[in-house]
Amino acid sequence: MAGTVLVGAQWGDEGKGKITDLIAPDFDYVVRYQGGNNAGHTVVHGDITLALHLVPSGIMYPQVIPVIANGCVLDLKVLLKEIDTLAAAGFSTDRLQISGNAHIIMPWHIALDGASEIQRGASEIGTTRRGIGPTYEHKAARNGIRMQDLLDPNLFRAKVAASLETANAILTNLYEEEPIDADMVCAEYLEMATRVTPYITDTALLLNSELAAGRKVLFEGAQGTLLDIDHGTYPYVTSSNCTAGGAITGTGVGPMAVKKILGVAKAYITRVGSGPFPTELDDDIGAKMVEIGGEFGTTTGRMRRCGWHDSVITRYAAMVNGLTDLCITKLDVLGFLDKIKICVAYEIDGQSYTTLPGSQSLLERAVPVYEEMPGWETDISAVKRYEDLPIEARNYLERLEELAGVPVTIVSVGPERGQTIMRGWQSL
Ligand code: IMP
Repeated sequence: MAGTVLVGAQWGDEGKGKITDLIAPDFDYVVRYQGGNNAGHTVVHGDITLALHLVPSGIMYPQVIPVIANGCVLDLKVLLKEIDTLAAAGFSTDRLQISGNAHIIMPWHIALDGASEIQRGASEIGTTRRGIGPTYEHKAARNGIRMQDLLDPNLFRAKVAASLETANAILTNLYEEEPIDADMVCAEYLEMATRVTPYITDTALLLNSELAAGRKVLFEGAQGTLLDIDHGTYPYVTSSNCTAGGAITGTGVGPMAVKKILGVAKAYITRVGSGPFPTELDDDIGAKMVEIGGEFGTTTGRMRRCGWHDSVITRYAAMVNGLTDLCITKLDVLGFLDKIKICVAYEIDGQSYTTLPGSQSLLERAVPVYEEMPGWETDISAVKRYEDLPIEARNYLERLEELAGVPVTIVSVGPERGQTIMRGWQSL
């Protein structure tokens, strides 16, 4: 049994796509276990740069089997577009396996996501408006539509009619939106079904038998720890379990199959959407991080909020995911600074917290306690070996790992595969 989970240790956008792409050749399977096309991975592969939202990053390696497991939600139009884009770039998707239990994002989920955000007004979540929340709501309400329903047109039509009955009532009465026509939806989706049903598999059975046969599986988390529905900064979270536990329920493998858990964190920190952000920088330094780090969302193009690295968060991520390894990305971006701050604790109502406070109202009042370290003020994007990093950069990394309590085994200094420093990472 050789499972490895890769998770975001912050609020998503940590650079997981590059790291998955980097280590994917060591694995037989790369599996998405939660979320949908709210995620966005920019993968730079040779001369080709692709933005993937749904298909696992491992798709680019012919020997790797990509899997979209039961914990994910799928927008069929996005899936087909991504399959076509990959084909046009010369990457076959024939090996792709999709769980029959994964839920489909239907047009009313997208409409409900947008309408509920508008209704929230100033307290909006800042969702990606891709229909993620309402699809998981309907899953929990046992009113959702799954990939396997596409295999039986009559069942599919009945489920669409049942689900739309309540969705249309809410859309028209509560949000004053136009109702959605069941017949049009069925015609469109059953047409798409002809292209997507060949990918449907019992992925839990597949992964368990392959793990038992000694195959290596990488579970690729989307979003990040603080966007987890249970362990994140609720209600400003996504609607799935992004943490390592999600890899278990989201695929149907047992916990003992997972041997390594790699957390990915930026050398600083970013967040998109609303919600508390203790180390946020509303100044020139934050603006420079946006500019140098190219901090705009892959999925929505929104500017990301930037701040100092927050070790309270990384320590929390280490705890709730059981991290065995840490990867620090975008270290090169901090090369413009003569001094770098790290948040080591929060002060809230005169009390010091070194792990995330359990209550949202406490977190909203958190004042970061900073430690300051000298910057390296040089371009490190061509450095290949840890020893060749400036001493200030090494000291910074070593302090981050000490504060997180997890060894930093991978350091990324640029978007290319080659711009990576391996510092003890070993795929199983
Ligand atoms: P949803 O996932 O579209 O429902 O959005 C809920 C929250 O998660 C919002 O704050 C989004 O900005 C955030 N979010 C969702 N996906 C990502 C991601 O891949 N990276 C960063 N933030 C995300």
